Amino acid sequence: MAKQTSFLTSIKRLYPHVSPILPRLVMGLVSALMASIVALAIPQVLKVLVNGTLYPGGDANTVWVAAAVILALGVAEAGLVALRRQFVINPATSVETKMRVSLYGHLQDLAVSFHDRWGSGQLLSRSMTDLNFLRRWMAFGAIMLVVTTLTVLIGVGVMFTMSWQLALIFLGAAIPIMFYSFRFRRRFSRVTRLSQDQAGDLATTVEESVHGIRVLKAFGRSREALESFNEQAEELRQTEITKARQQAMFTMVVTLLPELALGLGLVVGILLAANGELSIGSLVAFFATAAVVAAPVEFSGMLLAMALTAKTAVDRHFEVMDTPNDISSPAEPARPAVVRGAVRFSGAGFGFDDGGRLLRDVNLDIRPGETMALVGVTGSGKSALLQLVPRLFDVTTGSVTIDGVDVRNFSLEELRTVVAVAFEDTTLFSSSVRDNVLLGAPDRSDAALEEALDVAQAQFAFSLPDGVDTLIGEEGLSLSGGQRQRIALARAIAAKPRVLVLDDPLSALDVNTEERVEARLREVLRDTTTLIVAHRPSTVALADRVALLQNGTITAVGTHSELLAGNAHYRYVIASLDTEPKDLDTELHEELEGELANELGNALDDAGKAAR
Ligand SMILES: Nc1ncnc2c1ncn2[C@@H]1O[C@H](COP(=O)(O)OP(=O)(O)OP(=O)(O)O)[C@@H](O)[C@H]1O
Ligand SMILES: [Mg+2]
Repeated sequence: MAKQTSFLTSIKRLYPHVSPILPRLVMGLVSALMASIVALAIPQVLKVLVNGTLYPGGDANTVWVAAAVILALGVAEAGLVALRRQFVINPATSVETKMRVSLYGHLQDLAVSFHDRWGSGQLLSRSMTDLNFLRRWMAFGAIMLVVTTLTVLIGVGVMFTMSWQLALIFLGAAIPIMFYSFRFRRRFSRVTRLSQDQAGDLATTVEESVHGIRVLKAFGRSREALESFNEQAEELRQTEITKARQQAMFTMVVTLLPELALGLGLVVGILLAANGELSIGSLVAFFATAAVVAAPVEFSGMLLAMALTAKTAVDRHFEVMDTPNDISSPAEPARPAVVRGAVRFSGAGFGFDDGGRLLRDVNLDIRPGETMALVGVTGSGKSALLQLVPRLFDVTTGSVTIDGVDVRNFSLEELRTVVAVAFEDTTLFSSSVRDNVLLGAPDRSDAALEEALDVAQAQFAFSLPDGVDTLIGEEGLSLSGGQRQRIALARAIAAKPRVLVLDDPLSALDVNTEERVEARLREVLRDTTTLIVAHRPSTVALADRVALLQNGTITAVGTHSELLAGNAHYRYVIASLDTEPKDLDTELHEELEGELANELGNALDDAGKAAR
C-alpha cells in the first residue's frame, strides 16, 4: 500500500494547505530564530565581561553593564519564544481543520467500492491522529527543525571565529552524527509507518467490535474478541518499543558525541589559553556557545523522529486523497426538463472488484410509474443490480438509463434526487427521527414528514417520548429492526423521488403490516417508478410485473401469475422465498435445490412446451 517517496516530495504536498498561513509560520520561524540568536549573543557578552574584568586595566563597572545586558537578552529570548507560539498555534489548527474537512468530503465522494476495501479505523486514524500530529509538527517540529539547523550552523560559525582549533574538534563530532542520522532516518521511517498503520487497524477492530457488540455478547465471543484485540495491541506496543528504542539510541549518540568533544575541547582549550593563544574570555565564550549549540543537537533525535512521523502522516493522508473517485458527475450533465422515470437496463454487465462477472447482459425495461419486483435466489445479484441505478456502483458494460439518459450523464446530485433508495440493512444516524426521515429532502414540511411516516406504517414515531424529535441512538439501535426499516422506508418516500429503489425494505415486518405498507405505497407512489426486491410472495404479487434474475441475467419478465404458470425456475424461487402453500412440484424443487432444480425445471418447461 505504501509507496516510497522522499521526505521532501511528501512534505511539499502540504504546500497548498500551508500557503495561506505561510506568512505567520515564517514569522514564527523568525521569532524562534531570533530567540536562538539572542541565546548565541549571551556568550559574546560573557566574553567582554570576563576579558574586561579579569585582565589588568579592566573596569569594574563593566560587570554591571554586562550583567544588565545579559538579563535583558534573557528576557528577550523568553519573549521571542512566547511570540513564536503566538504566531503559529492558531493558523496550524486551522490547517488541521481544513485538511480534516477536505478528507471527510473526499470520503463522502468516494465510491462505495472504496469503502468496501478500507477499514473504517484506518480512515478514522487518518482523519484524527495523523492530522493532529501534523498540526503539532507544523506549529513546533518543522519550525524547530529549521531553527535548530540554523542555530547549529551559525553557532559553529561563531565558534570558528573564536578558535578554529576547538571548532574543528566539534565539527569532527558532527560527522558520525550525520552518518548515523541517515541510517536512523531509514530505519525509523519504516517503524513509524508500521506503527501508524497498526494503530489504524486497531481502531478498525475497536470500531467493529463496538458496532457488533450485540453479536459478540450473544455468541459469548467477548473473551475471544478481547484476546485477539490484546494480540493486536501487543503488536502495536512492540512497534512502539522499537520506535522508542531507535530514538533513544539516536539521542544517546547525539548527546554523547558533543559531550566527548566538549571534554576534549576543554583540555585543548586550556592548553591554548595557557600558551596565550586564546584569551580566557574567548575560552569561556566558546564553551558557553558550545553549550547553546549542543542543546538543540540533543533534541535533534526527537525533531527528526517528529519530521519522519509527519511525513508518514502526510503520505497516509494523501493515499486517501489521491484515490480517484470513479463515480463522479460528468463535466456537462444532462438536464432533462421533466423526468418521467422510465428505467432501462440495456446489456448491463457488472462485477465486483474481485474480477468475477456477477451480472451480464441484463436487459430490463421499467415503464414510468410501474412497480417492478425483482426476484432471484439469494446471492444472485439482486442488490448489486439495484445499486446500479443510483450509481453506488457503475456498470462495466452496457448501460442503465432513465428516460433514455444514461445515469452516468446525470449530475450525481440530480440523479440522487431522482432516485431514492431503501436497503434491507438500514442505516440510521444518531439524530432525531425527523432528521433521519428528511435526510434526502431537508426542506420538506412537517406534513410531508407525517405523510411519509404514515405510508411507511411508522406511526409509532409519533408516540416516542419526544415524537418525531426523539433522538434515536447510534445507527438507530434503540429501535426494533422493523421500526428501523420503516423509518428508512419513510426516508425514501419523503424524498419524493421519480424512481424508488427498494431492496427488500420490508423483510422485518410482519405480513399484515407489510400488506398495509404495500397498499399505502401503491396509493402514494402511483406514478413513481419502483424497483423492488421482494422476499415474500405477497409483495411480489402486488407488483405490476416481476423480473426473474437467474445466472446473472434477467431470464423472464411478466406478471406474477404468468411467470408462476410458465416458468419453473420462478416457481422454485417463489417457493423457496416463503412458506406459502406449495404444490408437490415446488416442494420437490426445494429438496433438490440449486443446479439440479434448475435442470429439472428446464426439463419440465421443455416438456410443457412439447405438450402444447
Ligand atoms: N461489496 C461486494 N464486494 C464483492 N462481492 C460482493 C459485494 N457485495 C456482494 N458481493 C457478492 O455478489 C454476489 C451477489 O450479491 P447480492 O448482494 O447482489 O445478492 P442478492 O441477490 O441481493 O442476495 P440476497 O437475496 O441474499 O440479498 C454475492 O455472491 C456476494 O458475495
Ligand atoms: Mg440483497
